[in-house]
Amino acid sequence: MFGNKALKSTLFVSMLTIAGLTLSFQANAACKLVSTKDNSPLAIKVTDKDTPEAKQFLETCVNPYTKLYAKDAEAAKAGKKQFGFQGCSGCHGGNANGLMGPSIIDEHWQYAKHNTDKGMFETIADGTNGTEGGGVMFTWHEQLPGHTGDGLDTDTILKIMGWLRTQYKGNDDKPWLDEKPQ
Ligand code: HEC
Repeated sequence: MFGNKALKSTLFVSMLTIAGLTLSFQANAACKLVSTKDNSPLAIKVTDKDTPEAKQFLETCVNPYTKLYAKDAEAAKAGKKQFGFQGCSGCHGGNANGLMGPSIIDEHWQYAKHNTDKGMFETIADGTNGTEGGGVMFTWHEQLPGHTGDGLDTDTILKIMGWLRTQYKGNDDKPWLDEKPQ
């Protein structure tokens, strides 16, 4: 009943399945976020309500809004709005040029990694413990323990970051404009 032909096609189908599984594993390769406080992994997951941009960032470590907003000042206003609405401006100033919190638009980074999307996201998501002497910033991401208020989702943080990059007034080095998926 099971001729050689049937066996061969079964084998072929199984091979396709294995190939498919391998591919989908690669496509789901996640950005390995770590806390700025102690380098421990950050448990931030893709959720059903995440935007395509948030999903893309959590897979690649690249913030799609960075390049989008660089070309579209009108779209970038969504990030500025959240920066004010979420209270970031209270410590960093309405234009992010610093108050009791540091300026976020010059080339003096509290942690060197803030010139990458991944690094800046990690600091906003889980805050810092102040080892650089600039004070402590608390946790913001809604999925992390101890977050401030209701917390922010991945997309809101990415929009704010996209706007912050458009406000940058430091030296000409802007590595965030040509980041590659990790
Ligand atoms: C209560 C005050 C306070 C609020 C509110 C606040 N921050 Fe901060 N933020 C700080 C302090 C203090 C630091 C410096 C932390 C350090 O050096 O460890 C900091 C650091 C940062 C940095 C790194 C800056 C650099 O130059 O490297 C970024 C980015 C940042 N904050 C973004 C945000 C965003 C986005 C929000 C709103 C969601 C926000 N902050 C709200 C106090 C605050």
